[in-house]
Amino acid sequence: MSSPVDTRTEWQKFFDGHAPHYEQQAFTQNTVAEVDFFLGLYPIAPGSKILDVGCGTGRHSIELANRGFEVTGVDISAGMLREAHRKAQEAGVDIQWVREDATKLELESAYDAAICLCEGGMGLIGHGEDAEAHDLAIMRNIANALVTNAPFLMTALNGYQVIRQMKDEHVAAGRFDPATMVSNYEDEWDLPEGARVVKVYERLFIPPEMVRMLTQAGFVVDRVFGGTAGQWAQRPISLDEIEVMYVCRKA
Ligand SMILES: C[S@@+](CC[C@H](N)C(=O)[O-])C[C@H]1O[C@@H](n2cnc3c(N)ncnc32)[C@H](O)[C@@H]1O
Repeated sequence: MSSPVDTRTEWQKFFDGHAPHYEQQAFTQNTVAEVDFFLGLYPIAPGSKILDVGCGTGRHSIELANRGFEVTGVDISAGMLREAHRKAQEAGVDIQWVREDATKLELESAYDAAICLCEGGMGLIGHGEDAEAHDLAIMRNIANALVTNAPFLMTALNGYQVIRQMKDEHVAAGRFDPATMVSNYEDEWDLPEGARVVKVYERLFIPPEMVRMLTQAGFVVDRVFGGTAGQWAQRPISLDEIEVMYVCRKA
């Protein structure tokens, strides 16, 4: 008998394996401050319905549920959602967990706010995949799930950082293609569970591109800030930082 085919994407496999260790990462240690920051941006009525896309182990979902919001957490990784479910039970909060690829997500337009933080699926593409079509699909699906004027907070990787790091020798080695802005290489990541070799295939976007895509997807982008985890503030982007923050509303 042949063994069942593993249809998981590379990122699904990565996060399934990483899930038990994810919250040991330094960048996950600012959840309460991040939720304070989000709730300080726009008024969100108590009890509102909030959508967390690429919710991971549910750290923001759980903190929002703790504060009385009705939360739905969506993620592609069964491993991450298993951790999220366990932690929500420990915290005594009720959250709707949905295992779905955010590029295929179809929800009724019933949510009063949404977050997609620490990438939450943005840019996490497969080899050869069209990064713009991928991220735009996620943005559109989030916009479709929101009521008019609903706040949406997103943090995603900063394209400037890649441009500033790449050198002609990276281009010569095939690691970076300036014609497409695609990076394609193997990297060893030092993770809490030990070193892992990750095949990186990514096309990051610079903020004006992201703003164009968000607008195309049905958002008004009110502000763009530096958004690296642990350094959230209403401040300009630093060119070499890891993440950028987009403060939006459904148009
Ligand atoms: C770096 S984690 C961020 C998790 C969480 N938002 C946080 O701030 O801790 C990225 C998450 O996005 C999920 N993800 C990646 N691609 C996705 C997709 N296409 N649809 C839904 N979730 C996805 C991963 O499984 C992972 O849990």
